[in-house]
Amino acid sequence: MDKEKKEIYISYAKVQKRIKELADRINREYKGKSPIFIGVLNGAFMFLSDLIKELKIDCEIDFLKLSSYGNKKISSGRVTLLKSLNCDIEGRDIIVVEDIIDSGLSIKYIKNIIEENNPKSLRFASLLYKKDIAKLDFKIDYIGFKIANKFVIGYGLDYAQKYRNLKGIFVLK
Ligand code: IMP
Ligand code: MG
Repeated sequence: MDKEKKEIYISYAKVQKRIKELADRINREYKGKSPIFIGVLNGAFMFLSDLIKELKIDCEIDFLKLSSYGNKKISSGRVTLLKSLNCDIEGRDIIVVEDIIDSGLSIKYIKNIIEENNPKSLRFASLLYKKDIAKLDFKIDYIGFKIANKFVIGYGLDYAQKYRNLKGIFVLK
């Protein structure tokens, strides 16, 4: 596990505190509604799980899975769908939950898929957002942390499928 050097970037306590703040906002903004949270596998499973534990509104969950980076740290520039939705999102309030937005390619691809199915509303949550890279012509409504252009691991995020189990977020050197 320690062949690659890692350094703490955002502590588990900070992550939990921020998730509580985001959940409080969602509780207010979706009061009386019952949104479907769509997690993007694999990376977002931990964020989605901690986020919905803080919700007081009714909610449902489903998952999408996209092709990953493979064992590389840089996007191939191609996105393919490995698992599609298993629920009917027409006329529903949808919140897409991502672990991190890097180039923005994946989230753009997801936005197109969801919009084709006519949801009532669509918003985006991402625990992390690489502010120097992401080029989007739409807004990410719930951002945990805007971070520098560093490759990060832990709390669901992997490098070559490892490190997802780490509690905090670390920079891989
Ligand atoms: P994008 O399509 O370039 O925005 O990349 C999105 C996906 O790539 C994320 O959902 C992650 O799964 C993965 N990814 C991007 N940056 C990182 C990183 O720093 N660490 C781990 N995975 C990353
Ligand atoms: Mg991802």
